[in-house]
Formats: sequence, structure tokens, C-alpha cells
Amino acid sequence: MLAFLCTFSSFKTTLGLDEISSGKTGTGNQTFRSGQPLYEDQRLVSKGGQFEMGFFSPGNSANFYVGIWYKNISVQTVVWVANRETPIRQFYNGSRLELTTSGNLILFDGLSKRIWAANSSVGLSSVPNKGVLLDDGNFVLSDGLTILWQSFDYLTDTWLPSGKLGIDKSLINQRQLLTSWKNPDDPALGKFSFGMDPRGSPEFFMWKNQKQILWRSQVWNGNNFAFFPNLLTNFSYIINGQAKYFTYNISAPIATRYVMTYNGQINQLVWSERYQKWELIFSQPADSCNNFAVCGPNGFCNITSSPACNCYDGFQPHSQEEWQSANWSAGCIRKKPLQCSSNGFNPVSGISMPANSQIMDLESAQVCQFACSGNCSCTAYAYNGGRCSLWTGDLLDTRALVDFQGDLYVRSADVILAKGKKKSSVLVALSITIPLLVCISLTYLLWRICRRKHNKKGETSENLLFLNLGFSSKQNTDSNNIITGSKPGGEKKVFNLPQFSFSSISAATDNFSPANKLGEGGFGPVYKGNLFDGHSVAVKRLSTRSGQGLEELKNETVLIAKLQHRNLVRLLGCCIEQDEKILIYEYMPNKSLDLFIFDPSKKYLLDWRSRVQIIEGITQGLLYLHQHSRLRIIHRDLKASNVLLDDDMNPKISDFGMARIFGEDELQANTNRIVGTYGYMSPEYAMEGLFSVKSDVFAFGVLLLEILSGKKSTGFRHSDCLSLLGYAWELWISERVLEFIDSDLEIPSSFLPLRFMHVGLLCVQESPSDRPTMSDVLAMFSNEHMQLVFPKKPAFTTSGSLGLGLVSTGNYSVNTLSTSVMDGR
Ligand SMILES: *[C@@H]1O[C@H](CO)[C@@H](O)[C@H](O)[C@H]1NC(C)=O
Ligand SMILES: *[C@@H]1O[C@H](CO)[C@@H](O)[C@H](O)[C@H]1NC(C)=O
Ligand SMILES: *[C@@H]1O[C@H](CO)[C@@H](O)[C@H](O)[C@H]1NC(C)=O
Ligand SMILES: *[C@@H]1O[C@H](CO)[C@@H](O)[C@H](O)[C@H]1NC(C)=O
Ligand SMILES: *[C@@H]1O[C@H](CO)[C@@H](O)[C@H](O)[C@H]1NC(C)=O
Ligand SMILES: *[C@@H]1O[C@H](CO)[C@@H](O)[C@H](O)[C@H]1NC(C)=O
Ligand SMILES: *[C@@H]1O[C@H](CO)[C@@H](O)[C@H](O)[C@H]1NC(C)=O
Ligand SMILES: *[C@@H]1O[C@H](CO)[C@@H](O)[C@H](O)[C@H]1NC(C)=O
Ligand SMILES: *[C@@H]1O[C@H](CO)[C@@H](O)[C@H](O)[C@H]1NC(C)=O
Repeated sequence: MLAFLCTFSSFKTTLGLDEISSGKTGTGNQTFRSGQPLYEDQRLVSKGGQFEMGFFSPGNSANFYVGIWYKNISVQTVVWVANRETPIRQFYNGSRLELTTSGNLILFDGLSKRIWAANSSVGLSSVPNKGVLLDDGNFVLSDGLTILWQSFDYLTDTWLPSGKLGIDKSLINQRQLLTSWKNPDDPALGKFSFGMDPRGSPEFFMWKNQKQILWRSQVWNGNNFAFFPNLLTNFSYIINGQAKYFTYNISAPIATRYVMTYNGQINQLVWSERYQKWELIFSQPADSCNNFAVCGPNGFCNITSSPACNCYDGFQPHSQEEWQSANWSAGCIRKKPLQCSSNGFNPVSGISMPANSQIMDLESAQVCQFACSGNCSCTAYAYNGGRCSLWTGDLLDTRALVDFQGDLYVRSADVILAKGKKKSSVLVALSITIPLLVCISLTYLLWRICRRKHNKKGETSENLLFLNLGFSSKQNTDSNNIITGSKPGGEKKVFNLPQFSFSSISAATDNFSPANKLGEGGFGPVYKGNLFDGHSVAVKRLSTRSGQGLEELKNETVLIAKLQHRNLVRLLGCCIEQDEKILIYEYMPNKSLDLFIFDPSKKYLLDWRSRVQIIEGITQGLLYLHQHSRLRIIHRDLKASNVLLDDDMNPKISDFGMARIFGEDELQANTNRIVGTYGYMSPEYAMEGLFSVKSDVFAFGVLLLEILSGKKSTGFRHSDCLSLLGYAWELWISERVLEFIDSDLEIPSSFLPLRFMHVGLLCVQESPSDRPTMSDVLAMFSNEHMQLVFPKKPAFTTSGSLGLGLVSTGNYSVNTLSTSVMDGR
């Protein structure tokens, strides 16, 4: 399966190799030359046996087509069709696909009538004389040196890894689109198509009948699309001469594809070896709010509100009557017309960005606002990470998102003023000069101070004792004692995190009494809090070391609280009062994983099945943090005592996002303070203070080996001075894997222990780039046919090396929520 990864860039070698080995393999021919047609009963097979090309007849159809499909997948899955509009309806026997001496690829029926031609020599100085089907499913015509024509430039309904989707003006078709089949039996052009914005902005659209926009992905932000996630895939946006396109590859050797279906969905599918079927892992449009401009101009869709369509502040429905009868197509209009002098902006939080933006790189949000208020036709702006987006005219196609998206500032004649929000009008009165910038900073500072005062006055806090755990996951919107994800002045509350009063927390924990203390972590002690209804919560009192201001801390806390996954401990609320910074979490009665696996009297409680479940849960939780949450959280302190267990022994990762809460910049800049735990720290982190997702992968590898062996990484002693990693490596290379596994475990088969240990060793390799990502790890666990590379020798193999044996072991895992080491070097 590894050969499946064969990418675009490896054409040259593939061609070379094929030329030497041309001839027959197994059941089909590999190369295709002029003068040697492919007849209807023959097949062209890619070198590694991944794809096959030949004649086929889809479903119940009686027509014949030339196409490419997966050779080794039990369900015939056609990924490309040559003559989709012109099937062979009769005289099938004797049909052939031929590369003429003039270089044109032509399909003839049994009567030698021309059915289809690729026009593969049009406008070329050199003519193709051979064809090769590559292992990525691309059929390539070349003159032996350069690719002159390829099926990947003429996609049908399927986008395979390393295929291109975009605009290439040097090709006959100029735009590469996915176009659905008519129906499962007919590959002819269907109603739906999918491709990049024809005006060249890096955004995907889905159209009906070529013209009507049905859906869009939102503009590529350099890493991803808001509505087109890269699950298991890695998109790249490439601008190259006359071409602008997206391509993608996969980080795991699995078969995956995107397909534009005949019923109007763009689906991502992954082949499951185990179940012998294509699993749908992603599909759009996912709900009616995803339908393009469903709420009309200046309306936004909110799937959780009723009605789903809303107008921005300062706007009202174009026609109340239509709006009430759920006809939203006319959208919203301004209550007061916009004048060129209307320079207020109403912020809307937690909303996706409208269509048709103009994007500029600008250094700050203020300059972005200037850019908008300085142009009378500008109706809104948004600023995000150096990118200033501007809109003119009506705002189309936005929807509310619970997940963080940034703020949209809608220009308005009547700004709903929050205290201190005068900022914008002050700005406009002045012209853009350097002294002005000083003014801005002063105004901004004043505004911040006012706002802080305001906040202090306005906020009353909830009583923790009356927290209702049954309802705490619901968003509570009707009180003002809540921190919201929206900017001050924003009317819409998008995400709410209850803020509790310090006095109520104090009462719940009996004045933070030692009897209620669950543990002491690097970020501060953890207490059990008892609620009136008998439920419990965990209360983490952060040490006052945080370098952040209250505002930043609140923002971070809100972001972290939005991360919700069954394998992450839930943040229920917080308390931020001057010197006190307290986080309230759900309480985990079974405490932490280390209390089981390292305790000889308790380890038998975690049998093999629960350990597998725990490993899989941690994998999922960490993958979510790294990839699926838009925040991309690096945990930085993953370890057994940070994995908590619920009633059913499901693992939940705790303490994630602490680095963010404590101020990421500070940590990143300050490399002489290491946050983390010896024994789990990757070499690049321990020695150079560098962290990345791969440092978490290292810690995950250590944890995995601990779970398998029941032995602690910190303070591991073996007769040969080996560390746990060194010990694992010794047994691995001497093929004594089962000796490594906790002797208290009954193991049903040796496959999984072997697999887990293999993955564990891959994760603790010295070089971060050798380590897999968490999505690779998941693929390795879920696909037992996947071949794994042989691990390199891990870091820290002797117990004398940094990170092991330096720290005494006694007081490390006595507690529940966190045992981190914060230490100077
Ligand atoms: C391979 O190609 C040769 C020459 O075109 C042909 O004679 C032979 O039948 C082909 N083999 C198969 C298995 O298609
Ligand atoms: C084809 O799939 C089978 C399992 O379904 C696997 O054992 C075999 O290695 C695969 N062959 C190739 C060439 O991928
Ligand atoms: C056409 O080929 C099929 C098998 O591919 C065969 O059954 C049939 O008899 C052939 N017909 C003619 C007219 O040769
Ligand atoms: C090739 O050219 C012919 C004549 O211009 C045209 O009818 C046909 O559609 C072209 N084929 C493809 C695949 O574009
Ligand atoms: C995606 O590709 C980029 C290079 O284009 C690489 O830096 C990154 O690590 C890749 N990510 C994954 C998950 O493979
Ligand atoms: C994916 O593509 C990027 C750039 O196109 C490349 O750097 C990377 O190595 C590729 N990854 C794999 C797994 O092929
Ligand atoms: C969406 O609707 C929900 C429920 O009515 C509400 O809490 C939330 O604030 C709305 N979001 C926006 C952006 O208006
Ligand atoms: C909805 O309103 C538009 C005019 O705003 C009208 O043209 C259309 O027919 C209405 N649709 C329905 C289903 O009433
Ligand atoms: C205002 O914006 C529009 C659209 O972006 C642009 O065409 C126009 O040139 C701008 N006007 C000024 C004065 O910058």
C-alpha cells in the first residue's frame, strides 16, 4: 500500500522504471504505446498494482466506457472516465483505445468508428508516443521524457491524492472541475460541479447547472478552509505560471478520495480494509445553513436559532411578511441608509465570512478599519492574522458558528455603541498621519481602561454551589454573568462560559481545605468542590504566575472551553477575580491513569481490553487537539497523571490548553523555563525548548509504552542502566516484544501488542520529522494491513540521559489533575 503515496513529483522516475520493466505483470500490461492498442478485453495496470485501466460498464448500464478504477479494492470504484458523454452503445466487440502516431488518444468502437478523442496532441510541438498508468491513478501520455497529457488534468467526478483542482490556462479545459455523474449508471455530465473560484480566489465552490452557486468552502487561509477540513489529507495551494490550483496528499497510506456525487454532495471517503467498504468521513453541504446565501443579502444563518435567518444589527427584513413566511430570499435592508460619512462598525462575532472578499495583507486591525472606512463603497471588514478582508455591497452567505471564526465588522449608520466604542468615530475624524497613530494608541488604551472598569461593574457571578451539571452543557444566555466569545459591544453572544463567584467556590471547597485537595500540579492545586445537589466538580486554582492580563486570560479560557470531545475533560466554568484565577472542571471519580497502571494492587483492574480502549481514546483526544479543533492545541504536558478516567474507564485528557492560558508567547520566548514533565519530554524540547505537535507525539509514545508495560518512564531502573525507552528498544530489536508487555495482562492475540509497541517506538524517535502525526497514528491503529516503517533507535535510551532519572520519583503521581514540573535550567 505504501506505493499508493507515489506523488506527482515522482513521475520522472516512474516513467524511467516502467520503460525498463515494460511488459506484462500479472493480469495486465503496464505500458501503452502507439501501434499497440488496448482492446476491450485487455487491461492496463499500474506498476504497484493500485489502479487498472480498461473498458467497463457501470451498474446496470448496457453501455461501455474506458475508465480507471482501483484494482485492489473489492467494490469496483471508477475514478476516471474517458468517453463519459459518448458511450459505446453497440459494436462493443473489437473496440480499442489507441494512441495514434500523431499522438492523439482515440477510442474506436468495433467498427473502427471514432467514439472519443483526447485531443492529446493539440498545440504541442512534441507528440506523445507512450502512455503509462501511474500508481496514483493518473494516466500519463509522454514522449518518454515529459508529460504531454494526463488524465489528472481532465478530472471527472473524483479527486484523487496528488490530482489538481483549479485553473490552468495552458490546458484545453482551462478550469479543472469535478462534475458529477448523471446517476450511478451513467457517467455523463450531471448537474453538479465542484471546483475553485473561476475568478481565481483560493476558494472552492459547488455549482448546480454550472452557474448557480450551491455552496462554498470559505477562502483558504493558508492552512485550511472553514467548511472543507483536511481530514487525513494535506492540501497545498500552488501558483505556478498560468496555473493556480489545489492539490493534496495523504499523510497515511490509505485509499481516500473526494467525489462530487450525482445528488449534489461533495464527499470524502476512505477505504476500510476491515469492513471492505468506503467509509464516508466528510460531506458537504452538511446542513441547510451551508446552502449558499440561504438568508439572502445581509442576512446570516444560525442553525440553532429560530427562525434560522437573522439580520445584522442595523438591518431589518426586506419584507416582514415574506420573512415571517420563511421566504428569506430577499434578505435584509438597512434601517438607515449608509452615507459615506457613516463610519461606525458593528461587530458580529462567531460568524463565517461573507462571499466575495478582497484580501490584503495589512499589519493591524486598525489599518484594516481605515482601509474600509476610507472607501465609501466598503461595507464590512474583518481582520485575522495579518489578513484584512474587505467587502463591498451586500454581505452574502454567512452563518453563525459556535467554533471560533473571528469577528466581522459591518459598517453601519447607527452603531450600537458599547461603552468606549467611540473609538471608530474618533479614528475617522483624523487623517492618516504618524501623530495620528499615537492618538490611536492613546484612545485604544483609554478604551481598554474604560472597558475594564465597565466589565468589573457589570459582571455578577454565578453561584457554583447551584451549578446544575445536567444542564451545564447547554448555553445559558439570559444573564449577564457570563463571559462570551464576542467582543465587547457585540450584541450576539456566541459561546458562553459561566463565571462563578469566588465566594461560592470557596464555599464548595470548604475554604480550599486540605481535606478537599485532590492534588498539586505545576499550575496550582486542585480541589474537590461539592455542589448542593450532591454532585462534585474539580476546582483548579491557578498559581498567580500567569503573565497574562485578565482580558487575554478570559479570551483564552473561552477558547479552551469550546474544545469539546469525549476524550477531553470538560471545562465547566471559571472564576477570574483580580488575584484569583480558577478553572472548574468536571470531576472524574476514577482519578488518573497512573494510579492504576503503576500500582501493583490495582493494575489488574485495567485488563487488555480497557487498555486498548484507553490508548484509542487518548489517540482520538490528542488528534482532536492537534487537528480537528481549529485552535490546534499542543498539550505540552501529556502524561499518565493527566489522563483521567470516567466511570466506564474512558480516558479523558486533562490540562490541555494550559500553555495557552498561561500565555503562549511568554512560554515560547522564554526557553529557559521548561513546562513539562521529565520522562515525557522530547529531546528537542528538553534541550532546545522547541515544541511542536511532534513533542506531544513523543509524550504519547512514552505514555503508550507505559500503558503496555505497566512501568513508569520516570525512575525506570533496569540492570543495564537502560531507560524505559532503551529497554523497549532492546526487546524490540531482539524480537522479544511480548516480554515487554505487562506480565499481569492476558492478551488475546499478539498482533495488537506488537502493533502498539511498533507505533510507540515510532513516536519516540529522536528526530521530530521521523515521528508520525496523530492522524498517522490513528491510521496505523485502524488499518491493520498498513505497513509500518522500522523505527529508528529512540531518544534517551540510557537512564543517565537527560529527562530520565534526574528527578526523584516519589512525589510524581500522587494526585489527580496535574503533576507538572516547572523548573529553571
Ligand atoms: C499486452 O499487450 C500485447 C500487445 O498489445 C497483447 O498482445 C497482449 O494480449 C496484452 N496482454 C494482456 C494480458 O492484455
Ligand atoms: C490487495 O489487498 C489485499 C487485502 O485486501 C492485500 O493483502 C494486498 O497486499 C493488496 N495488494 C496490493 C498490491 O496492494
Ligand atoms: C462479443 O464478446 C462477448 C464476450 O466478450 C461474446 O460473448 C460475444 O459472443 C461476442 N459477440 C460477437 C458478435 O463476437
Ligand atoms: C476533441 O476535439 C473535438 C473536435 O474539436 C471535440 O469535438 C472533442 O470534444 C474534443 N475532445 C475532448 C475530450 O475535449
Ligand atoms: C503537509 O504538507 C506540508 C508541506 O507542504 C508539511 O509541512 C506538513 O507537515 C504536512 N502535514 C501533514 C499532516 O502531513
Ligand atoms: C505532500 O505534499 C507536500 C508538498 O506538495 C510535500 O512536501 C510532502 O512531502 C507530501 N507528503 C507526502 C506524505 O507525500
Ligand atoms: C445563534 O443562535 C443561538 C441560539 O438562539 C444563540 O445563542 C447564538 O448567539 C446565535 N449566534 C449568533 C451569532 O447570533
Ligand atoms: C419569495 O420572495 C420573492 C421576492 O422577494 C419572490 O419572488 C418569491 O416568489 C417568493 N417565494 C415564495 C416561495 O414565495
Ligand atoms: C473602493 O473599493 C472598490 C472596491 O474594492 C474599489 O474598486 C475602489 O477603487 C475603491 N476606491 C478607492 C477610492 O479606493
